[in-house]
Amino acid sequence: PVIYLITPTYTRLEQKAELTRLSHTLMLVKNIHWIVIEDSESQTDLVARFLKQTGLNYTHLNVPTPAEFKLNMDDPNWLKPRGVLQRNAGLEWLRRNTSPRRQPGVVYFADDDNTYSLKLFDEMRFTKKVSVWPVGLVGYLRYEKPIVQNGKVIAWFTYWKPNRPFPMDMAGFAINLQLLHDHPEAAFTNSVQRGYQESTLLSGLKISQDDLEPKANMCSEVLVWHTRTEKSKTRNEDNMIRKYGRGSDPRVEV
Ligand code: UGA
Ligand code: MN
Repeated sequence: PVIYLITPTYTRLEQKAELTRLSHTLMLVKNIHWIVIEDSESQTDLVARFLKQTGLNYTHLNVPTPAEFKLNMDDPNWLKPRGVLQRNAGLEWLRRNTSPRRQPGVVYFADDDNTYSLKLFDEMRFTKKVSVWPVGLVGYLRYEKPIVQNGKVIAWFTYWKPNRPFPMDMAGFAINLQLLHDHPEAAFTNSVQRGYQESTLLSGLKISQDDLEPKANMCSEVLVWHTRTEKSKTRNEDNMIRKYGRGSDPRVEV
């Protein structure tokens, strides 16, 4: 099966660094298709040029997050969901452009800032319906994970909102492409409360806990980490302008 990776991304100082790191991981994985969806009114030259030079199989899309759902500069990052319409655009593209009977596939939501072990892709590749595994450095815990007994997920190791139907991070599961075609309405939405994106999609796919396929040695190994990149500060740009009349050359892409 092909692994389809759905990656929402948005313009900020760290974007090219994040995409570079992720692309170098993906270069080491065979048979993948990277769907990159920019949170923007139009596709940027930076991302277009970047994707082209990777040599990876990719599709470049864009859809802006409506202003009312966009985070403001001073908002805490958990206030509003991120990447919702972008992931939906990825799902729609897959429904229109793939036919799993001819070419089987697996779909994974790969945020641009996480850290992925190459082993993770071997684990998810033969997902029948939905496969699950632990995620490191998330939920203000060392990890969150499904609790497995006799090969079945029976509960969840998590602290935050444990009563969610599927209390796991976006990085903790992959789905068989056929399921997307079987459930054309299944999607994420900006109108559910915090933490319910994953549960909303999986409920839309008519998945029950009993369907989940535990991977990563019965969910005993961490193969993906919810790393987050520190925001870079550029206050000396202003200081340079004040002191010397100019800062860095805007033609140099960072
Ligand atoms: C956590 C989860 O790991 C995400 O999968 C989930 O989307 C998010 O919470 C949420 O609550 O919505 P976190 O690390 O806090 O993730 O979020 P980010 O990494 O900042 O954003 C998730 C993805 O959306 C990233 O790929 C990012 O590039 C993208 N994004 C972020 C946008 O497309 N637009 C934005 O305005 C912000
Ligand atoms: Mn993140």
